[in-house]
Amino acid sequence: MSRIVLAYSGGLDTSVLLKKLVLEGNDVIAMTANLGESDASTALATGGASGDPAIELQQVREKALALGATDAIVIDARERFVAQYVTPALRANAKYQGVYPLSAALSRPLIGALLVETAHARGADTVAHGCTGKGNDQVRIELAVRALDSRLKARAPLREQPLSRPDAIAFARAHGIAVKHTAENPYSIDANLWGRSIEAGILEDPWNAPPEDAYAWTAAPEVRPREADEIVVTFAGGVPAISGRTGTEMITALNVLAGKHGVGRIDMVEDRVIGMKSREVYEAPAAVTLLLAHQALERLVLTRDELRFKALCDQRYAELTYDGLWMSPLRAALDAFAVSSASRVTGDVRVHVHQGVATVAGVRSAFALYEASLATYGHGDAFDHHAADGFIRLHGLPLDLVARTANA
Ligand code: ARG
Repeated sequence: MSRIVLAYSGGLDTSVLLKKLVLEGNDVIAMTANLGESDASTALATGGASGDPAIELQQVREKALALGATDAIVIDARERFVAQYVTPALRANAKYQGVYPLSAALSRPLIGALLVETAHARGADTVAHGCTGKGNDQVRIELAVRALDSRLKARAPLREQPLSRPDAIAFARAHGIAVKHTAENPYSIDANLWGRSIEAGILEDPWNAPPEDAYAWTAAPEVRPREADEIVVTFAGGVPAISGRTGTEMITALNVLAGKHGVGRIDMVEDRVIGMKSREVYEAPAAVTLLLAHQALERLVLTRDELRFKALCDQRYAELTYDGLWMSPLRAALDAFAVSSASRVTGDVRVHVHQGVATVAGVRSAFALYEASLATYGHGDAFDHHAADGFIRLHGLPLDLVARTANA
């Protein structure tokens, strides 16, 4: 018997797990992290008026206690998630394989850190999670745990003993665990304020278009507003604000506004860390809008060399985040680079959201390297056209040399 801190979502798998660990005779502390999932879902369902995510989280806590947890804690980690994970990822334009904004991938190292901190506070020697052996999330949680305290034991009971969905449901029924009707629940969902991922069911065939019922944060084409909305994102040193709002509050509001226009739907076949390909559907209205705006501002204020080099760093940043290496020295070093280049990323970006698409409509900054008198084709051209002649001769000198040998 040991004292175990379990990452508990309140869903079927982690509830079955919790019960199993209790039946094994362990002293189990359930830890639930609030990463803004229910803010987004509730706000969208009610058209922007805030529902009560606090009640939902309270119910998760009570469920854990009813299943025999010694204690159940809910940690509001929303601002920490935004400040320490989402903001650096935005600065690095982090999109895995060029598209996925890494919502689940960014949350797992934080969940790992919260497990370790809770284990230390409660004198537990083991942490546990509900990931199976075939996904990315087990890697991300456990690498974070090892980086922070390699002496802690990490258990993944669903990897030790895989459990089919029918068996999980049968076990749940036998032990009085409430199970939502599976017909209402045909997908596997993971969500936080940076995005929602939808897997399994009919989506497992990549030829099947995602049915409308897979989406919860983005409006279907028929119900999107006819008129576009304009959003002005103001960046200060790479950190965004909209109408004076920042952090969780801004991201939640943007999920609603961009989501209403159907912005942020992503459907891709992606390469998992453990080697297989999987079909993933995401909706990330705020992430897609902010990443677009951030990159547009970078193009205005960074030099060509910085942009070229940063694109390489950004790609590595996304890969290592996806691969569970968030706590690695390389991530810290790439962050230092991104923080340095972000010192000029201050200014405004005008984004239009309309019919499923976010489009940049304008950029401005006190640090803009764009110079109208150099770029103009009109009057007042300040560009020295004669200088281009010498430039072309020297720039092309190696080509002249090669051409000479070809004619020899
Ligand atoms: N494929 C995505 C990723 O690896 C989403 C994973 C979602 N996690 C989940 N347990 N459903 O980041």
